Amino acid sequence: MSSTSSSGSRRPSRREFLRRSPSALAGLTAAGPLLLPFGCRQRSNDPPGSSNPDSAGSETTSQSLNGPVREHTLTAGPIETEVGPGRTWNTWGYNGQYPGPELRVTEGERLRVTVENQLPDAGTTVHWHGLPVPNGMDGVPGVTQAPIPPGESMTYEYEAAPAGTYMYHSHRGLQLDRGLVGPLIVEERTPHVDYDREHLVILDDFLSGAPKPLNELAERQGGGGGCMMGNDRRGMMDGRGQGGGMMSGMGGIIPPYEGLLMNGQMPGDPSVFEMKQGERVRFRLINLSSATTYDLALSGHRMLVSHTDGRPVEPVEVDSLRIGMGERYDVIVEANNPGAHALVAEAVEGDVPPARAVVRYPSVRRTRPPEGQVPEGLQGGRRLRYGDLQSVETPLGPGEEPDRTMNLRLSGGMMMSRGEWSIDGQHYPDADPLEIRQGERVRVNMQNRSMMLHPMHLHGHFFQVGNALKDTVITEAHMGQASFEFEADNPGDWFFHCHNLYHLEAGMARVFEYA
Ligand code: C2O
Ligand code: CU
Repeated sequence: MSSTSSSGSRRPSRREFLRRSPSALAGLTAAGPLLLPFGCRQRSNDPPGSSNPDSAGSETTSQSLNGPVREHTLTAGPIETEVGPGRTWNTWGYNGQYPGPELRVTEGERLRVTVENQLPDAGTTVHWHGLPVPNGMDGVPGVTQAPIPPGESMTYEYEAAPAGTYMYHSHRGLQLDRGLVGPLIVEERTPHVDYDREHLVILDDFLSGAPKPLNELAERQGGGGGCMMGNDRRGMMDGRGQGGGMMSGMGGIIPPYEGLLMNGQMPGDPSVFEMKQGERVRFRLINLSSATTYDLALSGHRMLVSHTDGRPVEPVEVDSLRIGMGERYDVIVEANNPGAHALVAEAVEGDVPPARAVVRYPSVRRTRPPEGQVPEGLQGGRRLRYGDLQSVETPLGPGEEPDRTMNLRLSGGMMMSRGEWSIDGQHYPDADPLEIRQGERVRVNMQNRSMMLHPMHLHGHFFQVGNALKDTVITEAHMGQASFEFEADNPGDWFFHCHNLYHLEAGMARVFEYA
């Protein structure tokens, strides 16, 4: 298979970012200069440093000593969004849209993003999920900054490196589940895989109202405020939770989602991605859901996994993959099966119907796959395991013993009082910091004593899982284990938490502190 190119110099011959909403593209077609050679990236007709407040994701380019500075403005505020035909919802978003505008830069450029807070009565922050930014730019209220008050703004600036598929989101309270999320792409200068075009695929669980913490959802079960789920689906409190809520099992509660979306579209009104016969198509998969992990597959095709959490791996061919909240995978699909195919992501926990999109060859008449098509990869075949991932970079020094090892128990659930979630029995913010020293190699072993899975995310560092570099790793339910190692090379206070937003809010977090 010619999937790995040593020259790697072939750039995508064509880029199409299919989006449903034309407004989503306004100002984002600004991604234009990407095909110019380095040094010729100044695309904007605007004078350097200026920005146009009327355009979504308004971008300008200026020059710093180290190269181009890409300037964007993200304005957080109330928006109206249409996730299915004829149904608009009032929620929050960035620059008037949901999901937020795509920020796309090239590896090594500086990104300067001014965040304007136009939310009613709520402070906010933005976190650049996965990017090892300087501590002060990390956007965690109470850890790295105070929230930006309503009516005020803050400018974040950092070097966009390393290349990869990332995301940004509010890190305040439950704002992430109210639409304050978006994709952030840092393009490689020399990709290690060849491809002809790419598509961005954003997975999100869509809530129509204001999110509520677990203890409130639990109290409101009778009123349909939440959805309780467990892997065994045994009804524990039958007959309650009418009108939007549903309780079963003993695992925990999930919010009453309207639906699972791909690129902001309900499954009944799916986004369409095109690919032409003979092309190699890169899909950047981002799970920016708050409480949903997915198993994802494309009917009629296998997927060649090329990146995990933005970092390049030896391409590995699978039929499906599991993607937790905060995780990203890039996959290459060989377009060798003309037709209209279903790209499906089904929830691992809970009963919300799967997210869907259509992958279509323009050469065929058919525009939709058969109704309800389930890709073969969700019925069997090979599902990606972390052990399949082999970094193409040199991760940590081989065979070195860790300087420090931590064993952490993950526990909680509705059997605990008030639906609390904890790391080693402590509920953040009433939790001890995890102390490390600069230069150390730190190993963390996690054991899951609960009935739900936990995608655990570390800020400010990549960590090694098996032979791959990642920043988020799933610890499976029911005594699942996961381990990672990282080098303490980015001083500061760094948040470490479950990326199920509701678990985070209920205490499943710690701070790694450099002594
Ligand atoms: Cu997506 Cu604390 O992060
Ligand atoms: Cu969790």
